Amino acid sequence: MEKDRLLLCTVLVIFSIPGIWTNTDEASFHDLEGKAFVFPKPSADSYVLLKPKLDQNLRQLTLCLRFFTDLTRGFSLFSAASRDHDNEILLFRNPHDFEMWVGGEYVSFSLSPLLEIFHLRSELVCTTWDSATGIIQLWLDGQRLPRRGAMKGYEVKTDLVVMLGQDQDSYGGKLDVKQSFVGEISEVYLWDKVLPAEELTDFQTPITPNPKVNWTLLKFEIRGYVQTELL
Ligand SMILES: *[C@@H]1O[C@H](CO)[C@@H](O)[C@H](O)[C@H]1NC(C)=O
Repeated sequence: MEKDRLLLCTVLVIFSIPGIWTNTDEASFHDLEGKAFVFPKPSADSYVLLKPKLDQNLRQLTLCLRFFTDLTRGFSLFSAASRDHDNEILLFRNPHDFEMWVGGEYVSFSLSPLLEIFHLRSELVCTTWDSATGIIQLWLDGQRLPRRGAMKGYEVKTDLVVMLGQDQDSYGGKLDVKQSFVGEISEVYLWDKVLPAEELTDFQTPITPNPKVNWTLLKFEIRGYVQTELL
């Protein structure tokens, strides 16, 4: 009896953490080539959960994605929380800069007003981090911004809850409508290595094999109001 109660409690606890261990079987692989996730409205409960298969802590990473929005406030693009840090990996866009977080520390990449002469178009952003040097790169439409660095010697944990379209302020939760993404996200890739500059300059079809997140073989679950639409 005791054992059953314990099991029930464990199950309840696990299932009460939103969207983490539940429904893992429902997530299957999809080829999203030529498609985008559309986040049609601001919300605190709509997002895409990604399921990267990480066997060991990350000492390097490259994250790439394309986004298209007319938001004028800040918003989260990619949020990976671990039990240790809500912002284990976070790519956040403010009106005038990008923030890239690793292990709870962030660097900011200012966008020159010249770069920003306003025309509404999608932006392809890639960011890399290397534990050995701490160096963080941010590439915007194939151009590298001046490099920064954080969390030298750190290892990114593997117990990640990975979301597109929301910023987690706790492990798997505390989502904030004011930081939610509205618009379109596509071409999401994550590697456990730093891609060479040649590939980041001209990121058409990714070459480096075995990405942990692969847009054309994507394991994901949609929560709330997010649609998969043709580009
Ligand atoms: C992504 O998965 C597809 C389908 O299996 C594969 O053809 C492609 O090479 C993978 N991408 C990379 C960069 O490895």
